[in-house]
This record gives sequence, structure tokens and C-alpha cells, in this order.
Amino acid sequence: MEKLIVTGGKPLKGTIRISGAKNSAVALIPTALMADSTVVLDNMPVLRDITTYKSILEDLGARVNFSEDQMVIDPSSLQSIEMIDDNVKQLRASYYLMGALLGKFGEAVIGLPGGCDFEPRPIDQHIKGFEALGAEVRNEHGSIHIKAKQLVGNKIYLDVVSHGATINIMLAAARAKGTTIIENAAKEPEIIDVATLLNAMGAKIKGAGTGTIRIEGVEELKGCRHSIIPDRIQAGTYMIAAAATKGDVLVDNIIPKHMEALTAKLEEMGVEIHELDEGIRVIGKPSYNSIDVKALVYPGFATDLQSPMTTLLTQANGVSVLTDYVFNSRFKHIPELIRMGAKIKLEDRSAVIEQSDLQSAKVKATDLRAGASLVIAGLTVKTGRTEITGVEYIDRGYDNLVDNLKQLGADVWRES
Ligand code: EPZ
Repeated sequence: MEKLIVTGGKPLKGTIRISGAKNSAVALIPTALMADSTVVLDNMPVLRDITTYKSILEDLGARVNFSEDQMVIDPSSLQSIEMIDDNVKQLRASYYLMGALLGKFGEAVIGLPGGCDFEPRPIDQHIKGFEALGAEVRNEHGSIHIKAKQLVGNKIYLDVVSHGATINIMLAAARAKGTTIIENAAKEPEIIDVATLLNAMGAKIKGAGTGTIRIEGVEELKGCRHSIIPDRIQAGTYMIAAAATKGDVLVDNIIPKHMEALTAKLEEMGVEIHELDEGIRVIGKPSYNSIDVKALVYPGFATDLQSPMTTLLTQANGVSVLTDYVFNSRFKHIPELIRMGAKIKLEDRSAVIEQSDLQSAKVKATDLRAGASLVIAGLTVKTGRTEITGVEYIDRGYDNLVDNLKQLGADVWRES
């Protein structure tokens, strides 16, 4: 079993370059399958979820070459509409194969997706969308079977603003006959990224990034080259780590506009922020104000930064309240932070966080962002050695984490 060892107490200092966005990449890879020729994806992050997706594509019969930060996907030899093996269970984003294969072949059989299981994560809105486009959907023996004689555009109102459902419906609708309108669509930058790739492949999508997306179905999608947007959640994690360790870090190669909700909250705490064209410099201060944070759908404060932010708020004077309105119970990091001395109470979907002196301890990452919150806690601890197990979760979303943190002056290493 691998663990991360952190000996904290050192302010992070220097520059960190952020890689491509995981949550874009895991949608763009299945999107590429819908082309009739090669798609080149640049700025691809090197992560466990990405290598898992590569294996899934190869099992489906596609040819994939992944080197450095470029993935070349040739879908012309794709043979199967069925993917039910263990890889799909490891990866939440395998659900995008439903929309991609349904759009391409009118049919898909996909094992129920796995991934970070911080709470039950339904896919009813994805299915509602496929059915509205004319597909029949059955759940048989742990797999979803989806089939349509002809996908036909429709007006679809999402009952909950869902990032995944918006993308999945957009994929299927790109090849439907006629026009699809998705109302109450999610607005995340990753959704715009997928629409940008689809449009470069020949799709006709307007309004991505707003609450109403309009898709005119087309008969074919061709290969192209696309560069993935920077990972705003990785960027936010390093910004929070810089503030928590009272450091001075330039988080580079990002789109500062994507970070606005976090930047506003850090400034409210008293963190010094300098926004540049493609970077944000975060300068920590000796003490911080307590604040309230509400995790909401984009452009609100990202739920994926809720757990790292919990750790930072243990360093603020007084009492802060952090409420997650996206996921009811994404709080598995809290018992582990309490093990490290954090004074946190859970009240319904809110964490009430008091200023705390964190201590080193043996803790366990139970999902990706919970893992990030524990790494930041370890960096904040003044003495002793924090041991974090569950490293496999952290590897799903943070590439080169250990080297990046070392480059910023942290004492972090892996042990088996
Ligand atoms: C995406 O998950 C991200 N995953 C998550 O990132 C992120 O936390 C989440 O969006 C919210 O931003 C990927 O992009 C692969 P949702 P997704 O559908 O699409 C409810 C990370 O750490 N809902 O927007 O699965 C759902 O229960 C991960 O990188 C339904 O009720 O999330 C939740 O309360 C974890 N029915 C809310 O909507 C549905 O059919 C938002 O979920 C779908 C969702």
C-alpha cells in the first residue's frame, strides 16, 4: 500500500504550472470517438483516470497513442458498442460513453459507472435526456442498455443542473435529426470545452456556457486538433495550499476568470491576490478572517474545492460555515481532519469550522478532493509527520503532485 508522507510547517513558494483539466479530458476522450477520423487532444493531463480511459478506448477497438501531454485517438477501427468491464466501474466519467456511442451508433451498453463514491450519484437526468431524444433505456444486470432507431432532437429541461447530464445529452444530440434545446443546462467551462471540440468536429452547438444550449444535429463528425483548457480545480487546490501555508505562489497557465468565486472568497479572508493574464499570484498572511462559503453550481464556488477550503478555514480566526448545495454529504474528509485536531461540526449539509491547531496524524483519503484537503492539512501542520493512505484517489486528479509540491519547497514523498 502506498502512502504520502508530509512534514509540514514550510510556506509554499515559487511557480506552479497547471496541466489540462481532468473533468474536460474525461469528456473529450469519449467525444473523440464520435469522429470518423483522428482527433488530437493537446494539454492532456497525465492522470490515473486518463490511462484508465485510454484502456477503455483500446478495448472498444480504437487506436490510441498517449505521449507527453498529447493523446491521439483514431476511432476509425471502433468495433464495439459494449463496455461493461472493471475499468468503467473505476471511472465515473465512463458515463460519457453512453452519449458518445449512442450518438455514433444509435446504441450503447455500458456498465454502471463507479468513481469517487462520496455519496450516491444518480444518472436519472442523463437517461431522461436520452429518452427525450427517442432512445429506449433499460438497466439489466448492472449495465445500462440504450438503443434508438433514430435519435430525434427535442426540448429537454434538466430538473437539476447537472454537469454530466448536460455533456451527455449534448453528445447524443450532436448526431440527432433536427434541433435539441437543453434548458437549465450546467455552465461549467468544461462544457464549453466539449462544445468547442464538437464544433471543430463539425457539430452545430450554440449557447454552451449558458443555461440554454441549442444543438442542430449533423450527419457526420470529422477528426481535428484541440487543446484542453487548464484544470481550474488543480489550480484552486494550489491557491488554497499557498494561503494555508502562508506562502507566496504563482499559479500559472490558467484562465483567471474560471477562478473568480475562489479568488473572491480568498480576498474576503484577507489573502493577497494578484491576477495576471494567465496566472494568479497568491500571497498568504499571518492571520485570516473567518468567512461563510456556499458551494454551488458554476459560476458559484466549486464543490470540488469545498474539501480543500475546509482545511484552509481551520486557519481562520473565529467560526466559518461551509455549505455544499451541490452534493448533500460530501464530507468524508471531516472525520480525518478531526483526527488531525480540526474543530469541525457537521450540521445537515454544512460544516461549522473553528480555528484549529492541526497536528500530524495517520489519515486516509476516501476520495480525490478529500485527499487534497488532507495533503493541505499535512502541509499546514507545524511539526511531525502526516501519513496519508488512499493515494490512489489523489492520483486520479492531481498529476505530479509530489514533484510539484517539492518544487514549491514542501517536504512530501511517497512510501510503500
Ligand atoms: C461532475 O460530476 C464532476 N465530475 C465532479 O467532479 C463535480 O464534483 C461535479 O460535476 C459538480 O461540479 C466529472 O466531471 C467527471 P453533476 P457530475 O451531475 O457530472 C445531482 C471531482 O472531484 N444529479 O453536476 O457527476 C447529483 O447527485 C469530481 O473531480 C442528479 O440528481 O455531477 C448532484 O447533487 C467529483 N441526477 C448534482 O446533481 C443526475 O442525473 C450535480 O451533479 C445527475 C446529477
